[in-house]
Amino acid sequence: MSLRFLVTGGAGFIGSAVVRKLIGETPHHVCVVDKLTYAGNLASLEPVAGSNRYRFEKADICDAGRMQAIFAEFSPDVVMHLAAESHVDRSIDGPGAFIDTNVGGTFTLLQEALRHFRALPEARKGAFRFHHISTDEVFGSLGADGLFREDTAYQPNSPYSASKAASDHLVRAWHHTYGLPTVMTNCSNNYGPYHFPEKLIPLMILNALEGKQLPVYGNGLNIRDWLYVDDHAEALLTVATRGVLGESYNIGGHNEKTNIEVVKAICAILDELRPDPAGPHERLVSYVTDRPGHDARYAIDAGKIGRELGWTPKETFETGLRRTVEWYLANTKWWGDIRSGVYRGERLGAA
Ligand SMILES: NC(=O)c1ccc[n+]([C@@H]2O[C@H](COP(=O)([O-])OP(=O)(O)OC[C@H]3O[C@@H](n4cnc5c(N)ncnc54)[C@H](O)[C@@H]3O)[C@@H](O)[C@H]2O)c1
Repeated sequence: MSLRFLVTGGAGFIGSAVVRKLIGETPHHVCVVDKLTYAGNLASLEPVAGSNRYRFEKADICDAGRMQAIFAEFSPDVVMHLAAESHVDRSIDGPGAFIDTNVGGTFTLLQEALRHFRALPEARKGAFRFHHISTDEVFGSLGADGLFREDTAYQPNSPYSASKAASDHLVRAWHHTYGLPTVMTNCSNNYGPYHFPEKLIPLMILNALEGKQLPVYGNGLNIRDWLYVDDHAEALLTVATRGVLGESYNIGGHNEKTNIEVVKAICAILDELRPDPAGPHERLVSYVTDRPGHDARYAIDAGKIGRELGWTPKETFETGLRRTVEWYLANTKWWGDIRSGVYRGERLGAA
């Protein structure tokens, strides 16, 4: 059966992976709603731009009038809400945009989704879903042991994670109070193709290729649980179509790594694929002042989505990282346009 998917933030890193999968591997129709901030990039949607099941609306999710018109015109069965300000370092420099988009924008979208849902004919109401895409950062920081579960208490520490936590609470309330059919996912750190080069993995790949320093925050021992973006996209489509209404699902890659392990792994792959006559890429590692309030460790218990919906990641960190490095080596035009324009790799969020 062909459904109509409204995907907010579809020009971003994860949203574009979801849209490429929806158009490439399913019969569904997709309308992308994206403001095209610095992080949104139509080049990431080029592989699907020619499909007659795809359309794009440049719009701000905070604009209630535009959202109402788009809901009325496209009439979605499923809303996948990924639009967000997403970079912790930027949230330290300028938290206002995070409150506006992540909190205010989610509120606007929930209101318009509810208006749309209530007006749907009974036959279509049963299929309607609002899927809110969130992060494991809402749970705060872990010590050496333990995993985030769906019932772990919220304890956000950065302006970014606080704004995402607020949006999660709104989604829960719109389900509980108004009966909006919602599902929610909280995912660990993603990596893979089309990742904006301010984030750790693409920044390190590109700096290493250009012989620039590889800035590692603090002692490099902060731990993240890494998930390949196409595995996340698969998990999101699973939850969007088969998740139980009102439930949330944690998504993770079972790949806990310290930041310095990640950087050294990238250096080793580049030494093999693109050796530097000046010496091993690891020589470029440079420890810099830590991020203020840097969470020590995130790790996900992804047991629920595995048991109940049958999802598990396909890539290991080793296979996914190699694919990622190979993609950046083969797609210099995609990142070259960014590196020569809106973002040149400068340090953000030092407060
Ligand atoms: N990247 C990760 O590791 C990760 C992990 C877990 C959860 N998430 C969540 O997944 C979602 C997508 O993350 P991402 O890494 O793809 O982010 P991204 O920054 O790459 O993309 C965000 C997209 O949202 C758009 N956008 C921003 N503000 C908007 C607005 N007001 N109106 C319309 N569009 C707007 C941007 O133009 C961009 O295309 C976010 O909600 C994020 O919190 C990300």
